[in-house]
Amino acid sequence: TFTPNAFVDDIVAELKEKIKDDKVVLGLSGGVDSTVAAVLLNKAIGKNLYCIFVNNGLLRKNEFQNVLKQYEGMGLNVKGVDASSRFISELAGESDPEGKRKIIGRVFIEVFDDEANQIEDVKWLAQGTIYPDVIESISVKGPSATIKSHHNVGGLPDFMKLQIVEPLRMLFKDEVRRVGAALGIHADLLGRHPFPGPGLAIRILGDITPEKVSILQEVDSIYIEGLKKAGLYDKVWQAGAILLPINSVGVMGDERTYEKVVALRAVESTDGMTADWVHLPYDFLMNISNEIINKVKGVNRVVYDISSKPPATIEWE
Ligand code: XMP
Repeated sequence: TFTPNAFVDDIVAELKEKIKDDKVVLGLSGGVDSTVAAVLLNKAIGKNLYCIFVNNGLLRKNEFQNVLKQYEGMGLNVKGVDASSRFISELAGESDPEGKRKIIGRVFIEVFDDEANQIEDVKWLAQGTIYPDVIESISVKGPSATIKSHHNVGGLPDFMKLQIVEPLRMLFKDEVRRVGAALGIHADLLGRHPFPGPGLAIRILGDITPEKVSILQEVDSIYIEGLKKAGLYDKVWQAGAILLPINSVGVMGDERTYEKVVALRAVESTDGMTADWVHLPYDFLMNISNEIINKVKGVNRVVYDISSKPPATIEWE
């Protein structure tokens, strides 16, 4: 049987032995895996671990600031890099889902490479790869799910010439969470829903504009906070809102409106490969729909996604 404390002791000793006084760079995403990997490495090598957390402008509302603060509170040596405007301007005009993923992947690598190059004499690249990623080593997802899937366009970025260290590569997700708990990582960080690397870009159907990003951030935030307040967040494997590329007619007072439609999605799953839509209570859906339409300017209609995977994927793009 797996015992988190024994794992921590063993892997910390192993990391010390392997890395010695070398410097290590690691990309934090706000997700469970990269966070647990960082805390383990921090325990083993302390300030020689250089964490980089990139804001691609497609994160949840206030996520960058909040998560960065949490990381600093955990004693990690982390640099927050706000590259939002660069991502958003490179994405302008692109409406193809794979095209958006490619741009985000490329810009992430460029930003990360610039940052890694500023760390003098860095020898290792740490990744939060877990066992299922190792098995599924060729990612069909593209971007940031794993940095490795970007060996494409001519010549490797400099940081990819580093030696790789992956402290979680033998662990399943539930084991990673247990290790995280043993390391004292906050339960709300360990219990976060999965969130895709390309972020809100694949939940804004069609092209991305700053205005669409902020509408979706507001909607998503009302939805996720609502799930938490109703005690439903931990009962759902993943939830999010999708901004549709169409307007629909509504009425507000005696005015006709012609505004955006958003879809809400919540799924039950164990690994994301298959998923069932969650039967959220009608009262909850009613209240959330009212709150979204009342509070978010530009949205006059909310629909709920009742499709399971397969055939529908969890994300809409
Ligand atoms: P789908 O939409 O394929 O999603 O049913 C399954 C799980 O994978 C996440 N996902 C992604 N994660 N980069 C990521 O890092 C991506 O491009 C990507 N696309 C989907 C999705 O959020 C779900 O948890």
